[in-house]
Amino acid sequence: MQSVNIIGAGLAGLSTAITLAEQNVSCRLISLQPSERAQSVLAEGGINASLNTMGEEDTTEYHFQDTMKGGVYLADPNAVDALTKGAPQILQWLEGLGVPFHKKNGVIMLRNFGGQKKKRTAYAKSSTGKILMTALIDEARKFESAGLIRRFPHHEFLRLLMNEGICAGVRVRDRYTGQIWDFSGKVLLCSGGMNGIFPHMTTGTTQNSGDVTATVFSQGALLGNLEMLQYHPTTIGISGKRCLVTEAARGEGGRLYIMRDNQKWYFMEEKYPELGNLMPRDVVAREMYFVRRKYGGSVYLDMTGLSKETWEQKLSDLRDEIIQYLAIDPKTEPIPVKEGIHYFMGGIDTDEFHCTNIPNLYASGECTCQYHGANRLGGNSMLGALFGGRKSAQTILQDVQDVSSDFPTESLVRENEPYTEEASPILIESISQILLEGLGIVRNAEQLTQSLKKLKSLSQERSYNLREQNRLKLAEAMLLSALERRESRGAHYREDFPEKDESFRKVTIACRKEEQISITFRNLPERRSSCKSP
Ligand code: FUM
Repeated sequence: MQSVNIIGAGLAGLSTAITLAEQNVSCRLISLQPSERAQSVLAEGGINASLNTMGEEDTTEYHFQDTMKGGVYLADPNAVDALTKGAPQILQWLEGLGVPFHKKNGVIMLRNFGGQKKKRTAYAKSSTGKILMTALIDEARKFESAGLIRRFPHHEFLRLLMNEGICAGVRVRDRYTGQIWDFSGKVLLCSGGMNGIFPHMTTGTTQNSGDVTATVFSQGALLGNLEMLQYHPTTIGISGKRCLVTEAARGEGGRLYIMRDNQKWYFMEEKYPELGNLMPRDVVAREMYFVRRKYGGSVYLDMTGLSKETWEQKLSDLRDEIIQYLAIDPKTEPIPVKEGIHYFMGGIDTDEFHCTNIPNLYASGECTCQYHGANRLGGNSMLGALFGGRKSAQTILQDVQDVSSDFPTESLVRENEPYTEEASPILIESISQILLEGLGIVRNAEQLTQSLKKLKSLSQERSYNLREQNRLKLAEAMLLSALERRESRGAHYREDFPEKDESFRKVTIACRKEEQISITFRNLPERRSSCKSP
C-alpha cells in the first residue's frame, strides 16, 4: 500500500494524518512550517458543536440551519449536514485527547458566537487553536514513532505529478537542502487560505500564500466561490498586518459603536435587535463600513462592561494582546477596530467527500469551499478543518485500493535543481492593491472591470516566473468570479446588484486552460436527509 501525501500540517492535515494512521495507513505530512507554526495556532475564539450543555435545547439541526443561513444557502447542504451532525463526536474526540476546554463541574461550557441563536462554541480562553493543535501534535507523535506518519517540515509543494489526467503524486522541495523529491501516491491538499495574496490586509499567516491553490489551478483543478472573502469585523492594525480581536469579545458582551452627534451610537444593537453585535460577520463588517462612510471616524469595540470573572477566566490572553499591541487596556477603554480579511470561503472545488475534479486529488480545510457558502460562521472553521480532515481520510481509505502509479515510492530528483523562485514582493503588493480595489466590502462592475484592466496591464509589464504567472491568473479568477456573480449574497455585496437573486444560488466555478479562464456556475445538490428539529 502506498503512502498518502498530505500538503499542510495544520488542523486539517493533522486530523487526516491521525485518522489514516488509526487505520494503519501511512502518510507523509508535508509542510512549509512545522505544525507548531501553522495558521491553525492563530485561531482564537472556539469551535462549534451543539453539545447542549447550557440548557438551551440546542440540536444538530439548529446548527445546520444556522450554518446554512449564515452562508446564505451557498454551502453544500449534505456536507453541512454531515459537519453539524459530526460536530459533537469531534468534541468528544478532542476531549479524549485531553484538550482543556473551559468547563464547569466537569461539563464543557459554551459561548455565544456570531450568527447563532444558541450558545454553541467550546473554547479554551481565546487561544483555542493553539490548545487544539497542541493536542493533535501530541497525538500524531504516537503514530510518528510507529512509523505511520512521516513529517516533512520546511518542504514546499512545487506541483502535482500528473499521469494522463490522474494525480499520481507530488513534487516537493526541501527548503533547507534544496533537494527536490517526487512522492507517489494520492494527494490531499490542506494548504489553508490564500492570505499571502493580501499581505497587509489579512489576519492570517502569509506563509499560506495561495501558491498551492494557484498551482493546482494551472494544472486543471477547478476552484469554487473565489469571490467569497470574509472580512472579520474586529481587527487591529499591527506593523503592516491585521491582528484579530476575537469574536468572543462580542460573544462575551463586547459592543460596537460609532460617535454620532457626539453620542455613542450602538448601531448593531439598534438595527438588529435579535442578534445585535453578533450578527454574521458579513453583515457586521458591512454595517461598520457604511456607518464609517456616513459619520466618519472609527468604529469602537467597547468591552468595558465585561465582568472581572470574564476577563480573568475567559479573555485574559486577549486583554494581554491588546495591551501589548495598542497600549490600551480594553478592560477600561474602548478600542478602535476595523474590518480585515480573515477567511476564504472559496477555494478548491470539492464534493462533500472532499474529492476534487482530478482523480486521486483531495482537499480539506480552508483551501476548499464546500462548508461555508457565502459567509462562514465563527467557530465553524476549526470544526470544518477537523471534521473535514477525518472525512477526507475516510474517503481516501475507501479509495485506497485503487492507487496505481508509475512513480517510485520516493525518488530524489536532483540536488539543488534550479526551481522557480517565490513571487516578488513588489508584484505581490501590486496584485494585492488591485484586488482590494475590486474586492472590497462593497463592489460594483465598474471597479471590478477597472481592476481587471489594471491586472492585465500588470501582466504585460514584464515577463514573470511561473509562480508569478499563476498568482496573476488566480487573481484574475477572483475578479472574474466577483464580476460574474451579479447579485449580493453573504460576503459578496454588489451595490449595482444589491439584492440576492435565487438564480445565482450556485457555486461559481473557475476553470483555467492555459491562459484562458472561464467562469461557470454549478448547481448545488439537494439535501438528502430529512432531519428536522424537534
Ligand atoms: O473571532 C474569532 O475568534 C475567530 C474565529 C473563527 O474565525 O472561527
